[in-house]
Amino acid sequence: MKTFRRIGVLTSGGDAPGMNAAIRAVTRAALDRGVEVMGVYRGYSGLIDGDIKPLGLRDVSNIINHGGTILYSDRCPEFKTEEGMQKAIATCRAMQIDGIVAIGGDGTFRGATDLTARGIPCIGLPGTIDNDITSTDATIGFDTAMNTVVEMVDRLRDTCESHARCNVVEVMGRDAGDIAIQTGIATGATGVAIPEIPFDTDALIAKIKRDRIAGKRNFIVIVSEGVGPDFSQELAETIQAETGVETKFARLAHVVRGGTPSLRDRLMASRMGELAVDSLFAGKSNLVICEYKSEIVATDINFALILDRMYKGKLKPGDLDPYTEEQLADMRARCDRKAASIRALYETNNRLSL
Ligand code: ADP
Ligand code: F6P
Repeated sequence: MKTFRRIGVLTSGGDAPGMNAAIRAVTRAALDRGVEVMGVYRGYSGLIDGDIKPLGLRDVSNIINHGGTILYSDRCPEFKTEEGMQKAIATCRAMQIDGIVAIGGDGTFRGATDLTARGIPCIGLPGTIDNDITSTDATIGFDTAMNTVVEMVDRLRDTCESHARCNVVEVMGRDAGDIAIQTGIATGATGVAIPEIPFDTDALIAKIKRDRIAGKRNFIVIVSEGVGPDFSQELAETIQAETGVETKFARLAHVVRGGTPSLRDRLMASRMGELAVDSLFAGKSNLVICEYKSEIVATDINFALILDRMYKGKLKPGDLDPYTEEQLADMRARCDRKAASIRALYETNNRLSL
């Protein structure tokens, strides 16, 4: 079995609270097992440029409680080219980096799988606020981002109550409505619009009119950015025009990507980081560490990427060819479970926001 002397750790794509906890876990777990750790700065850009420094035990002190990433992050188009990839591999060889833990989203995992195929074993950790990685029930950063949304919306609700207003709040999530639907329930939103389920504007208008007549002063509507670029702002205008309720619009945007990571994100990042290191040292690679049914487990990256394409309806010809009937059944069941969970949450919100 391959012996590891030194591994690299990097963060790539959009940053997420809890990435630092993951960096700390990877670093400490590897050092504890007698393996050196190199911090690769600015994601795959740092791997191409050799922007790499050793990480010692104390270099990761006092970071578990901070958002962002001490290794910085980047989106690196050059890494998608064969030339860029070869530069990254040359850096790994020159710096004697025997394996890499890459923390990021599905783009980061595609990079990790390409590196693994070229002889640098990689393991991915799911770091993104969006929770848009189907193989894991939660991604690092998702919980913190939702807690921030809840705090912001609670504040908006205070002022809506004082002034008898409605506030439409757009939240991030890229093409996934996970942040919107869960925070919608947690903030008692009158309506939630997510890309996964068609939105009924007329029903929302009718509900606001009815509830205003019954004496309700404040209304909160949460919209996932994935519904469309101008949807939330236009919805605010429509609500005001159709109901007569003064309606404000707020886009929380990157506010929810920063800040102190929650207990759940710190804990999950720590457990995932440790399993990533153990898996690598056990001779495994091309894996993404997931939380599945409350267990921290390692899943094949290609399986995870194809599962995502299946869930998002973006399968390409031949994608399913490598898989057995049993694996395909597992994939379909996971997609159904995720879709059913979003739908169940949506219906819960409809029932409770009377
Ligand atoms: P995320 O990891 O959050 O999905 P991106 O999609 O921006 O974020 O991907 C992060 C980085 O991963 C990209 O800037 C690029 O360097 C690398 N990457 C993305 N897609 C690929 C790909 N198809 N092949 C190789 N590397 C990729
Ligand atoms: O993937 C995380 C995320 O914050 C998405 O929710 C959002 O759509 C996107 O990144 C924003 O990207 P940028 O930081 O490049 O504006």
